[in-house]
Amino acid sequence: MQHSEFILILDFGSQYTQLIARRVRDLGVYSEIRPFSVDEKEIEALSPKGIILSGGPSSVYEKNAPLPGGNIFSLGIPILGICYGLQIIAYMNGGQVRAATHREYGRADLIIDDRADLFFDLDSSLPVWMSHGDHLTKIPPGFEVIGHTANSPVAAIRNSKKNIFGIQFHPEVVHTQRGDSIFRNFLFKVCDCAGNWSAASFVETTVEEIRKRIGTSKVLCALSGGVDSTVAAQLVAKAIHHQLTCVFVNTGLLRAREAEQVCDDYRHADFEFVYVEAQERFLDKLRNVIDPEKKRRIIGNEFIRVFEEQAGKIGGIKYLVQGTLYPDVIESVSTKGPSATIKTHHNVGGLPEKMGFQLVEPLRELFKDQVRRVGKELGIPSHILGRHPFPGPGLAVRILGEITPSRLDILRPADSIFIEELRKNNLYDKIWQAFAVLLPVQTVGVMGDERTYDNVIALRAVTSRDGMTADWANIPNDVLAHISNRIINEVKGVNRVVYDISSKPPSTIEWE
Ligand code: XMP
Repeated sequence: MQHSEFILILDFGSQYTQLIARRVRDLGVYSEIRPFSVDEKEIEALSPKGIILSGGPSSVYEKNAPLPGGNIFSLGIPILGICYGLQIIAYMNGGQVRAATHREYGRADLIIDDRADLFFDLDSSLPVWMSHGDHLTKIPPGFEVIGHTANSPVAAIRNSKKNIFGIQFHPEVVHTQRGDSIFRNFLFKVCDCAGNWSAASFVETTVEEIRKRIGTSKVLCALSGGVDSTVAAQLVAKAIHHQLTCVFVNTGLLRAREAEQVCDDYRHADFEFVYVEAQERFLDKLRNVIDPEKKRRIIGNEFIRVFEEQAGKIGGIKYLVQGTLYPDVIESVSTKGPSATIKTHHNVGGLPEKMGFQLVEPLRELFKDQVRRVGKELGIPSHILGRHPFPGPGLAVRILGEITPSRLDILRPADSIFIEELRKNNLYDKIWQAFAVLLPVQTVGVMGDERTYDNVIALRAVTSRDGMTADWANIPNDVLAHISNRIINEVKGVNRVVYDISSKPPSTIEWE
């Protein structure tokens, strides 16, 4: 997509590179991450308003250290180097970088020496986050120091003539206070950006592009009812309406009343909606299967089969819509170069390759929070946009051990009580994901005067920004107590409820 203004982020392998992209976009400027080795011609073609050099684990003086093409400093484009990015600027412009005697990790106080541009409107001292082993021992000609710390006499430099800035700390992490102001100053004071990326302009340009690309062809979409596939489908529908068919497959692994809810949501949509009843065939295939990865494979394959049948019935389909997001496509540590592997999206595993469709991925440039903003712009109701993520394999990975209709009948009401109580207590929207898990063990209990030997339900609720890391949610004890009481009293076959207090990492969000 062609953006009216664009910030290019060159990735030198920092774990924080994605955060830089997000910070810039949160300020209304479109940004994209590219491998550090992207060549000058491509940079010129992209014509960015500014370039940000990320941090990275290397040392500039190491053999094979990742360095950008030499000419990026003479393109006349403003540059901000962060941590390793600062060291690159110094090293490639005639300065000197050495291993520091004191490595600097964690919090430091930045003393600001000049507040004309990058540090405009900031206090004279600022808590910042450092993480570096190398530092500048000589600043390059044409540069001046604009900030220092007790340990680093050179913590920020500037070349006013060329609009090149380098900072030793990480403004993208939350531990650096006013990091957003530093980005804001770079974007609006230095690069002269207007900050006009908005959900509305995204919808307008994307719809136009989809219309042009698809013409009069037929398009298919696997709709799960979740946020990503819904927003992707609605964007495409806005462009081509009834040329789009959305297929919703009831795998039998959905939550209580989920299929009914999705059908209600789309009964009046301005695309074709097909409901496929496939509960029996999925449960048949899953009989006696215990291994989580085997469950995923079986479900993925069966999904493809159902989908193929539907595509065959409709006939003449050329495109397939997928709700792939930016974190799914970013080349992981791209210091390996432009050929670094691209993560594949696991929602609709293998569909396009096997079926020879061309992909339409209207969200592949967005983060989840931006997808929600686009969804709002499209008028999608908040009960859909606020939905917690739900994995493709559904309850199959939340029933540990064998999946049977009777075990589904235990998990569904337990899960639904949990979610209902979270909503009642205004906790649902504060939580990234919450669900119940049915364990493959039975424990002893006593109900009335009788001994029971019944199932255990585990409750899982986590807070997270993107699902990559997560903390267990601190739900008040009285709410947990009430949920536990209700599940044990109302769900036949359960005599114990436990709460999962593990973070990710080292645990994962799902139990399988
Ligand atoms: P984990 O359990 O890996 O989950 O911490 C991270 C996020 O991914 C979801 N998830 C899946 N989604 N197919 C999916 O479409 C899967 O096989 C799958 N496994 C996990 C999970 O619900 C969480 O949001």
